[in-house]
Amino acid sequence: MEKTQYDFGMIGLGVMGRNFLLNIADHGFSVAGYDTNPDKTSALEKEGEERSVKGFTTLDDFLAHLSSPKKIMMLVPAGGPVDAVIEELLPHLNAGDLIMDGGNSHFVDTDRRMKRLTEKNIHFLGIGVSGGEKGARFGPSLMPGGNKEAYEIVRPILEAAAAKVQDEPCVTYLGTGSAGHYVKMVHNGIEYGIMQLIAEAYDLMKRGMQLDNQEIQRAFQAWNEGELQSFLMEITAEIFKQPDREGGEGFLVDKILDSAKQKGTGKWTSQSAMDLGVPIPTIDVAVSMRFISALKQQRKEAARVLENSQVDNGEEDKQFLEGELRNALHFAIIITYAQGMALLQEASKEFNYGIDLAEVAKIWRGGCIIRARLLEDIMVAYKHQPKLPNLMMDDHLAKVLLQQHLDAVEIGKMSLQQGVPIAGLTSAIHYFDAYRSERLPSNLTQAQRDFFGAHTYERIDKEGVFHTEWNA
Ligand code: 6PG
Repeated sequence: MEKTQYDFGMIGLGVMGRNFLLNIADHGFSVAGYDTNPDKTSALEKEGEERSVKGFTTLDDFLAHLSSPKKIMMLVPAGGPVDAVIEELLPHLNAGDLIMDGGNSHFVDTDRRMKRLTEKNIHFLGIGVSGGEKGARFGPSLMPGGNKEAYEIVRPILEAAAAKVQDEPCVTYLGTGSAGHYVKMVHNGIEYGIMQLIAEAYDLMKRGMQLDNQEIQRAFQAWNEGELQSFLMEITAEIFKQPDREGGEGFLVDKILDSAKQKGTGKWTSQSAMDLGVPIPTIDVAVSMRFISALKQQRKEAARVLENSQVDNGEEDKQFLEGELRNALHFAIIITYAQGMALLQEASKEFNYGIDLAEVAKIWRGGCIIRARLLEDIMVAYKHQPKLPNLMMDDHLAKVLLQQHLDAVEIGKMSLQQGVPIAGLTSAIHYFDAYRSERLPSNLTQAQRDFFGAHTYERIDKEGVFHTEWNA
């Protein structure tokens, strides 16, 4: 049915934009999409036939058909395109209109845009959208940040479109400024960490234990039925079922080049953590491992020059499959969330976001890529103790970590003996061990700094700052 005024507008009708708009339309809102490509507007209208959905190929037309205040989301590639859309829109907007950026924008850009638009009395929300195309279509996790008043304007629409867990929408107001995009960035950092850990478990099963794809599939499927239940575990089990339809026999997974790409959000997480002085080694390692994976040609040559003669027939190691490997993975995944949450806690302080970690865990329970059973425990942990210094210190999770730690160590030993790299898992073990070490060897580091650079040190037995003439 043709309307004159639509409730919600979308700029950019790629897969994500189109699907999200259709999702909103499913909930009874009238929606308008703008894209200069008429194929995209007609695809939108065709799919939205039965609902109040309209496509426009000119900006004037699109804007003239939005109800006031205008609510316009853009789902366009991060960076320059977001600025270009804002510049194009600005002359046509009135005070109180709202622009939402649903892409994976860098939080610094979001703050800059928010400042500029606020000066012009235009509302701006940076909204992390997670869940891929299916999520966008049937319920993503939404991570909005900005001004609270702006959030209230679109709250009913976002709540209707978001994924639901126990009838509660996977969206909430996260905080001021770029809080939403910061939370989404850390979500992606955790996503990198977990994906790396799952890839390591695969490598250990394949090269370390010499299992075939069906056995590996069964392991992931079984793990997905227990405490490791999560979206990433579920899709991993599915991936190992997929036959190769293009190149003849075998499984598709074996035909895919082992060189992983990245769009940058994992790297941004590590960069921001470095700036804030927050250790997130498992996420850092995951980013580095993607870089190492991209050195395919060098690895090919090195496989010859630095040949690994450690990998054996894997017979003995199969005993680790049922218990130790599963527990090691669970241990390291808890630690990856702990690192991400610690970063969010510090960023919230530093940037005055006002982020509630229990709420973050709550909206990550559904719709998003890192949704997992474990997030229930994480939510409860922060509900009980909002200022918990580190997730590993939660009573329940601390118990789980202590129970599973030695299994992780067993897997660590096996991988070192076989020369199968598991930098993510070992980084998690080291993070755990470092965090629980009352005394670390950093006294020596301080002594060295003072020795070569007179950088001074503090003492354990008295207050003050000291310097020693070391070689005197
Ligand atoms: C999501 C995903 C999504 C995207 C990743 C891919 O939450 O829906 O995280 O945002 O698929 O950003 O990231 P890389 O290309 O960096 O792996």
